[in-house]
Amino acid sequence: MKNSYERFVRPLLFSLDPETAHHLTIRLLGRASYFDVALHALRRFQPTSKKISLFGLTFPNPIGLAAGLDKNGVALPAWAALGFGFIEIGTVTAKAQLGNPKPRIFRLPEQQALINRLGFNNDGADAIAQRLRGLRESGRWPAVPVGINIGKSRVTSLEKATDDYLYSFRMLRDFAAYITLNISSPNTPGLRELQEPERLSELLHAIGDEAGTAPKPLVVKISPDVSDAELTALLAVCEENGVSGVIATNTTLDHSSIAPQLDQAGGLSGAPLREKSTALVREISARSTIPVIASGGIFDAESARKKFQAGAQLIQLYTGLVYRGPQLLREIMDSL
Ligand SMILES: Cc1cc2nc3c(=O)[nH]c(=O)nc-3n(C[C@H](O)[C@H](O)[C@H](O)COP(=O)(O)O)c2cc1C
Repeated sequence: MKNSYERFVRPLLFSLDPETAHHLTIRLLGRASYFDVALHALRRFQPTSKKISLFGLTFPNPIGLAAGLDKNGVALPAWAALGFGFIEIGTVTAKAQLGNPKPRIFRLPEQQALINRLGFNNDGADAIAQRLRGLRESGRWPAVPVGINIGKSRVTSLEKATDDYLYSFRMLRDFAAYITLNISSPNTPGLRELQEPERLSELLHAIGDEAGTAPKPLVVKISPDVSDAELTALLAVCEENGVSGVIATNTTLDHSSIAPQLDQAGGLSGAPLREKSTALVREISARSTIPVIASGGIFDAESARKKFQAGAQLIQLYTGLVYRGPQLLREIMDSL
């Protein structure tokens, strides 16, 4: 049976083009974040809590908001009110950028999928740090862990990538419960090359040197398209550098399940990504002790359960939320 979001809200949002629907949602939640009555109304969706401690943080439940939905960190109180156990904002880049030309988000309802080629459109580290400072000073900072996902600015060459990440890291670390290094988005040319052992090692060293006396947990977000050998090398580098967690996975460039007439360039998310992503969670959990945060195709209690069975400690939602709405959180928690 369809839930009320699927019956009443989704048809409305899906009558708009995907990016307009996205902006409208973010705007409404951003507004709601500053009104207690609105936050109170959003709390109706809250799932039961089930505390989890991981890399020194306490999560009220294991369901997080995946990066990309609130890139600019404008609606933190609203996400917390909806019941997310943690919120990951970003990807934030050192420089503000517009991203790729529109249209750049595509719905594939039959496949329960999205394809996006946004290209890290975001306000940039300076503006986002200022926004987060304002939120903190307003006393509305959420009680759940807030992760900040950082990536490379498009104009920065791969050789200078480390400096770019370092800039965002320095600007944002004080606001973050953990920092995610996004080295796996398919929409910034060359970004995925940072998954190569030497480049990743350089990046992790540089960030590690910056960490200071109160280091923040560092999480690495990886692509579902890495080969077996690449995964082995990547995990070795993460372990050597004391990485706190791995997010598996970002969107995929494997569009083999999509009919050519529906296909678009960009990263594919949602149901077609599910199995591939879960397989990677299983592989990582079998080969390494690094905690895994699963992201990819979580649409219901069953797909969430499979991620935990594969070894995930936490999960994150994006495309499932677009299709199933905030009731998805309770549906998952009730089944755990
Ligand atoms: C429109 C869109 C934008 C995204 N933007 C980002 C991003 O900026 N940074 C990032 O790390 N992941 C981004 N992602 C990837 C999601 O965080 C998630 O890892 C991926 O979509 C798989 O989960 P899902 O199948 O539940 O959507 C984006 C995904 C979508 C659909």
